[in-house]
Amino acid sequence: MDLPPVKIGLLGLGTVGGGTLTVLRRNAVLIAARAGRRIDAVIATALNPRKARDIDLTGIEIVDDAFTVADDPRIAIVAELIGGIEPARTLVLRAIHNGKHVVTANKALIAQHGNEIFAAAQARGVMIAFEAAVAGGIPVIKVMREALAGNDILWLAGIINGTCNFILSAMSDGGREFGEVLTEAQRLGYAETDPSFDVDGVDAAHKLTILAALAFGIPLQFSKVYVEGIRHITREDVQYAERLGYRIKHLGIARQVESGIELRVHPTLIPQAQPIARVNGVMNAVLVRGDAAGPVLLSGAGAGAEPTASSVVADLVDVVRALTTDPENRVPHLAFQPDTLEDLPILDIAEIETAYYLRLLAADRPGVLADVTRILGDRGISIEALLQLEHHVAAADVPIVILTHRVKERAMNEAIVAIERLDSIQGRIVRIRLEEFA
Ligand code: HSE
Repeated sequence: MDLPPVKIGLLGLGTVGGGTLTVLRRNAVLIAARAGRRIDAVIATALNPRKARDIDLTGIEIVDDAFTVADDPRIAIVAELIGGIEPARTLVLRAIHNGKHVVTANKALIAQHGNEIFAAAQARGVMIAFEAAVAGGIPVIKVMREALAGNDILWLAGIINGTCNFILSAMSDGGREFGEVLTEAQRLGYAETDPSFDVDGVDAAHKLTILAALAFGIPLQFSKVYVEGIRHITREDVQYAERLGYRIKHLGIARQVESGIELRVHPTLIPQAQPIARVNGVMNAVLVRGDAAGPVLLSGAGAGAEPTASSVVADLVDVVRALTTDPENRVPHLAFQPDTLEDLPILDIAEIETAYYLRLLAADRPGVLADVTRILGDRGISIEALLQLEHHVAAADVPIVILTHRVKERAMNEAIVAIERLDSIQGRIVRIRLEEFA
């Protein structure tokens, strides 16, 4: 432990930046023993200087201009904890240009600009570490990239947005409505600045993009993810799903099939007996299926100051340990060596195969169900369960819930159009995908 401390600079002293400093200080001795030398923050910039005053900043120079941090010759590592695309992207590229390693918690930046950033880092021989970008305190990047390196990853599914999980859990356990729970999630600080990133699925799509690249050796392809949020899920859907033995979770799913890769984010019915169905509230979980390891479930806090800081600090330790390692002997950014990344096709949502929950409002008269089941049957769609529910809208119409077996989404789209055309069916059909993860 005779080596001098490694000096680092922080971009951002908000929730994650503050948490990182707290953990670095509280566990300084343990961290130094693990890294082989001390890790000292010497310079930082705060977008919100008022918030930064709540943090112990002893020994840290606070500057207004973030580029002063990226250019500081004393520091070996820049921790980018400001989030968003700009100025984060320009700052990270500048730090790389200056030969600094970068630790980032920025999922949007990695998902949308990771290919450019990793190429620049590789050319300059520096490391980019991003454990905190996916699922906060859960060490899922490390597991996918290192612990499962011997596996052919078949699929993964994750509860990777805590806000959506909090809302769906409260709708299920408390029988509450979407809007009311969203307001509470914002008050508790779970939601992004713009909560549509959470409830419309964008945040989960960023995280899924990163996990899929690590799993399948493909470039980051955020624009090809099918994205659906949870705004259309009603309390009734949550309750009907439960009567049938399922819970509705907002999942990011990536699956390797013969024709390519499925990349999709949407609400999903999953069996109540699946352990991941019991991950509730703001918690996150990722279920990975490796051909050798079988199913591996990781769960924990997906956000928050110290859980996210846990991942940032683990990355700092990793980078410090590898400072003297030749770049070609370091763990590759996306798990696979860059020259082996494959351009496997990402399937259009119409080409995916899954089971479905359908809810329709039908006239309560003879022959209506026969018409619906004929339309499904004509398209090779087999029914798994059917529930005719009590009247709740108009005396003449009843809600019907149908669970189907797996089928191509294209066939289901055609069936839904045909069913909605029936005179006996009112309004639009609610369709929620269903996965057994057997
Ligand atoms: N808004 C995110 C969530 C925070 O709800 O999961 C962590 O990325």
